[in-house]
Amino acid sequence: MHIRLLPNLLAQDCKKWPQDTVKKILKYGRGSATLLHSHIPTRQNCVTPVDFPVLLTLRHFSVTACLVPICSLYGAAVTTVEGVGSMKTRLHPCRIAKSHGTQCGFCTPGMVMSMYTLLRNHPQPSEEQLLEALGGNLCRCAGYRPILASGKTFCLESNGCQQKGTGKCCLDLGENDSSSLGRKSDICTELFVKEEFQPLDPTQELIFPPELLRMTENPEKRTLTFHGERVTWISPGTFKDLLELKAKHPEAPLILGNTSLGPAMRSKGCLYPILLSPARISELNVVSKTNDGLTIGAGCSLAQVKDILAERVSELPEEKTQTYRALLKHLKSLASQQIRNMASLGGHIISRHSYSDLNPILAVGNATLNLTSEEGTRRIPLSEHFLAGLASADLKPEEILESVYIPHSQKWEFVSAFRQAQCQQNALPDVNAGMRVLFKEGTDIIEDLSITYGGVGAATVSAHKSCQQLLGRQWDELMLDEACRRLLDEVSLPGWAPGGRVEFKRTLVVSFFFKFYLQVLQELKKLIKPFPVPVNRFLSALEDFPGTVPQGVQRYQSVDSHQPLQDPVGRPVMHLSGLKHATGEAEFCDDIPMVDKELCMALVTSTRAYAKIISVDLSEALEIPGVVDVITAKDIPGINGTKDDKLLAVDEVLCVGQIICAVVAETDVQAKRAIEKIKITYEELEPIIFTIEDAIKHNSFLCPEKKLEQGNIEEAFEKVDQIVEGEVHVGGQEHFYMETQRVLVIPKTEDKELDIYVSTQDPAHVQKTVSSTLNIPINRITCHVKRVGGGFGGKIGRPAVFGAIAAVGALKTGHPIRLVLDREDDMLITGGRHPLFGKYKVGFMNNGRIKALDIECFINGGCTLDDSELVTEFLILKLENAYKIRNLRFRGRACLTNLPSNTAFRGFGFPQGTLVTESCITAVAAKCGLPPEKVREKNMYRTVDKTIYKQAFNPESLIRCWNECLDVSSFHNRRKQAEEFNKKNYWKKRGVAVIPMKFSVGFAATSYHQAAALVHIYTDGSVLVTHGGNELGQGIHTKMLQVASRELKIPMSHLHICETSTAMVPNTIATAASVGADINGKAVQNACQILLKRLEPIIKKNPEGTWEEWIEAAFEQRISLSATGYFRGYKAFMDWEKGEGDPFPYYVYGAACSEVEIDCLTGAHKKIRTDIVMDACCSLNPAIDIGQIEGAFIQGMGLYTTEELKYSPEGVLYSRGPDEYKIPTISDVPEEFNVSLLPSSQTPLTIYSSKGLGESGMFLGSSVFFAITDAVAAARKERDIAEDFTVKSPATPEWVRMACADRFTEMVYICPLPLEPPSHPTPWAIFK
Ligand SMILES: Cc1cc2nc3c(=O)[nH]c(=O)nc-3n(C[C@H](O)[C@H](O)[C@H](O)COP(=O)(O)OP(=O)(O)OC[C@H]3O[C@@H](n4cnc5c(N)ncnc54)[C@H](O)[C@@H]3O)c2cc1C
Ligand code: FES
Repeated sequence: MHIRLLPNLLAQDCKKWPQDTVKKILKYGRGSATLLHSHIPTRQNCVTPVDFPVLLTLRHFSVTACLVPICSLYGAAVTTVEGVGSMKTRLHPCRIAKSHGTQCGFCTPGMVMSMYTLLRNHPQPSEEQLLEALGGNLCRCAGYRPILASGKTFCLESNGCQQKGTGKCCLDLGENDSSSLGRKSDICTELFVKEEFQPLDPTQELIFPPELLRMTENPEKRTLTFHGERVTWISPGTFKDLLELKAKHPEAPLILGNTSLGPAMRSKGCLYPILLSPARISELNVVSKTNDGLTIGAGCSLAQVKDILAERVSELPEEKTQTYRALLKHLKSLASQQIRNMASLGGHIISRHSYSDLNPILAVGNATLNLTSEEGTRRIPLSEHFLAGLASADLKPEEILESVYIPHSQKWEFVSAFRQAQCQQNALPDVNAGMRVLFKEGTDIIEDLSITYGGVGAATVSAHKSCQQLLGRQWDELMLDEACRRLLDEVSLPGWAPGGRVEFKRTLVVSFFFKFYLQVLQELKKLIKPFPVPVNRFLSALEDFPGTVPQGVQRYQSVDSHQPLQDPVGRPVMHLSGLKHATGEAEFCDDIPMVDKELCMALVTSTRAYAKIISVDLSEALEIPGVVDVITAKDIPGINGTKDDKLLAVDEVLCVGQIICAVVAETDVQAKRAIEKIKITYEELEPIIFTIEDAIKHNSFLCPEKKLEQGNIEEAFEKVDQIVEGEVHVGGQEHFYMETQRVLVIPKTEDKELDIYVSTQDPAHVQKTVSSTLNIPINRITCHVKRVGGGFGGKIGRPAVFGAIAAVGALKTGHPIRLVLDREDDMLITGGRHPLFGKYKVGFMNNGRIKALDIECFINGGCTLDDSELVTEFLILKLENAYKIRNLRFRGRACLTNLPSNTAFRGFGFPQGTLVTESCITAVAAKCGLPPEKVREKNMYRTVDKTIYKQAFNPESLIRCWNECLDVSSFHNRRKQAEEFNKKNYWKKRGVAVIPMKFSVGFAATSYHQAAALVHIYTDGSVLVTHGGNELGQGIHTKMLQVASRELKIPMSHLHICETSTAMVPNTIATAASVGADINGKAVQNACQILLKRLEPIIKKNPEGTWEEWIEAAFEQRISLSATGYFRGYKAFMDWEKGEGDPFPYYVYGAACSEVEIDCLTGAHKKIRTDIVMDACCSLNPAIDIGQIEGAFIQGMGLYTTEELKYSPEGVLYSRGPDEYKIPTISDVPEEFNVSLLPSSQTPLTIYSSKGLGESGMFLGSSVFFAITDAVAAARKERDIAEDFTVKSPATPEWVRMACADRFTEMVYICPLPLEPPSHPTPWAIFK
């Protein structure tokens, strides 16, 4: 059977899905979404006892592209971004580009498709629908706010910033009028002009292909079979055939949404030779409403189940819909809309994942399963035995689940659902629960009770014994106490339990029950009068944090009114590639079409943390069809990396994930299969070191200590009122750029030349490394970078390794080699931000004035040096942040451990190190009984001064940012309000924090600030600009054309940038350290000024002439129309011997204020508001700069709140994908998010007095961290728990919950864990 594919209405016959189309479909799945899938469902019968209407409606829904089996698309029309609009034809009015919602653009097609699907279904959606539609898409650059802003332009109610739900803009309300920012008439708050947008015209959309429509009207009843290389897909047309097939192939799974089978096949290597697809079986989509319950077909998607339940809830009295409402609650947060659109109810139940959100509720709700086979039908309860997989309570192999019956609840019965995950949306639960209680009519005596938990064992666990023991008891405090003890005893979680977080999970077990207890009390109060209930203060435990659509204002200074209209500098110009990002036409490295004779490469990595390689057996791998070769260190003709950092391992391995060799094959799949067949034997070496603590113990360091000192610290400690010592632990961070590492190496036929297309921040480094690896001169190698799908420092050093290994493959085989890392390998191999352990000792006066500060930091460098020494230096240089402390000592060391080497990451040590300084300030404030902001203010630089390394600077802008931030955020009022709130609420606490920032920009060496550009003017007047910076999404190319446009006095439309190429601009510096636009801007300016000078005589002679005429004349007069621009670099140096220097060209100042609310019972938090004020001086492009600030802030927030790396005790990274590693999603954006650029600020040094803002916003994310710790401190104070000066980042729900210690955490510590068997002596995970 062949599949006939109609993507975007382009019908084509094909035996095999064309490689190109598969790639395109996956491309639109970037950012974990999304393509539009439209089909007419198999006649969905909505059955009630009275009528049987037949629905035949077209269903458009978005799906996660990488999980969609191609055969499942039979009968469906697929729309990709290409079908939505293009630069060549019409641009669909998805307004994401114009509202600056694209940075690197890698996630944009997915965003567009989610939004497009929403608009197909709801041309004027509500903001909640918009939030839900985008909830499953990840973006690592843009911080989501501008993406939402573009979507909001389609929403009905969108009008102004709608602060606080008033429907009006805060500026109209005159709020914040006291702020000088708000009053200034030259302050703009619009980054795009809504009026320019084309209206949405649904009549212009693609129609559902008539051919498919006809197919649905006359459905195919034949069984369709698709034969693949290893798998056969069988899709029966009738229920009878399905049952027959299931009897014939009892081991074959039914495939519906593929959201459970797909991931298992992909990452666990499960292979099912036969898959049965019941997609065309209408019997599985039956919905039947009866007087006592609801039967839902097992084939209904979870999205459909949500709609069905919502409808039933609206029809029935509340008492009957308790179970339905509990299910609905979880259906809102279960995965994302894309997954809910695909996943089926049957697949969900049968998968029996221990984390299942629905099974615990279905179990307590007494749901039953209707099973069918050729033998007939039968019913089984969805009981604890079924969930535990007991054969006696399970389906027989030949049976299928036809439907699920969920009974109505009754009066005196209450059902609730609970769930806690690492973050609100898109995260598997740590623990969830379903709870149901039935009372004897008219009393609070328990007649029936069921409680089940997910996430606490290998399957959903029922607390049956505890429930039985509580029957007949009154619903009171005594019962609560006993229930908690029983539950902890019954739901045992050993210390080595998979997933770890054991104490946290045990605490949730009882905290959830406490919430249920309170909820039920409230309900009983309505039924039994009088009924004693707790005072209001304790009822705060009941409120959840509903997802809200973020609002906010962005303020920036408008350009001078005399600036010519044509001059784009300082204006919010759209990203040059924005429209191409949105249409999917922007080409990334792996979008380059397959080249002739191209081969694929896959990497073989070490499975041991520190071991001798005894043997490598390639024989089996080489026998796999399609495998061409295996590249080992012996194949390297030149240098194999450095002595301590080899490209390919020789003799020994230093970490899990170190590259040993690389398979070259005809296809990616063959290369990956071959990897499994390579047999490597190891001999373990010792000592194996993972943590900083172990490294200190073993004196295992990568480089000497770095130290800065001023004043006399010992003497100062003797004269202070108080001294505090504390520890700070900051976890590492994965770059999680959306585009993983990738490279295409094309060998040329002549002179050993190579063309390398690579996703890198430093093409010159790739070029140099390939040259030394292959032993050929640099001039034979050209590296091309069109654009990079996010780098954040992770694509400075590593791409050279991948480029060099691929180049060895290309040289050896003579074929072009493509190497594309999947997410798992990327995360395993590449390392990220250095985890940090800091110790401080601070001496201060009782008024909060700090007199002496001694900080010692250790970072986990991993197994090679990489940038660890530099990171240590920067960390030490930046530690003082905004504070003038006379007596200081800062020391730092990089630890050598057996983990993958950590590397550069946005902020380069500053976000980790400065958390130590700020934690120390918070500790001082706590000891002095002062608010932290007072201590911050007291110790801040105030006048022109010198830093610890004796660099002079003026802190005026720092003070202005601080004051403005306090002002625009109404900080003092809100601090009071938070205190009031905290007094009234025992289980919820609010925290506020304001953090100042002095961020030093650039490298500590002049040579690293040099830059070059090449500008060609062609005879038609068009101009090609090339410079040494790489487009990573930060808008450097846009800014460079703004500079060239101003200098040459021509519109940006005359200018073009093609790519960054080592052949056009040689010897470039990595695009990093926030100075890319500064230094390359200077070079572009220089080149343009040279050209303009040459043109001056011609212009003078013909001042009324046009640009084109002047260029023509110049050509005639043999004036060179090409110029190299050069910038020799900002002066920067650091003398570590003396501890003095001028290492940084300038500073970026800023301040951020955040407010949060925490749930003390679960550890969850919501971000109420963030205000950022940043000193951008004269922004080259406020839209881009605000985007950088917001994006970095959100990434910082991830670092400090959700992003947590977990390693096995053997050093294997567990968190290797979006399931386990949680970067912020759209629902993590603060409910109110305001960003202001400080007006009237100048810096004479830089191009047009602008500043580089790429990294600084990252640290401001810590304002959320300190707001959370502020809230935790409020809870601890109320509970009379001693201050704890051990700080741990990220502030995960686990940390928050355990820090808000109470009677429930106490119970967990009192009730002992089961003893660990000797076979499991180690915990599940270690921390770096
Ligand atoms: C990114 C992601 C996030 C997720 N997040 C969550 C979450 O937050 N909470 C949560 O609870 N779950 C979550 N899940 C899991 C998800 O709910 C399940 O994977 C899904 O419900 C399974 O349904 P499916 O139709 O895709 O099953 P499939 O993968 O198609 O099938 C799964 C299994 O069910 C069997 N099966 C299916 N239908 C029948 C039938 N009618 N009769 C007999 N056997 C049948 C199949 O044989 C197969 O073994 C997530 C999954 C993904 C991929
Ligand atoms: S713009 Fe979203 S990932 Fe880069």
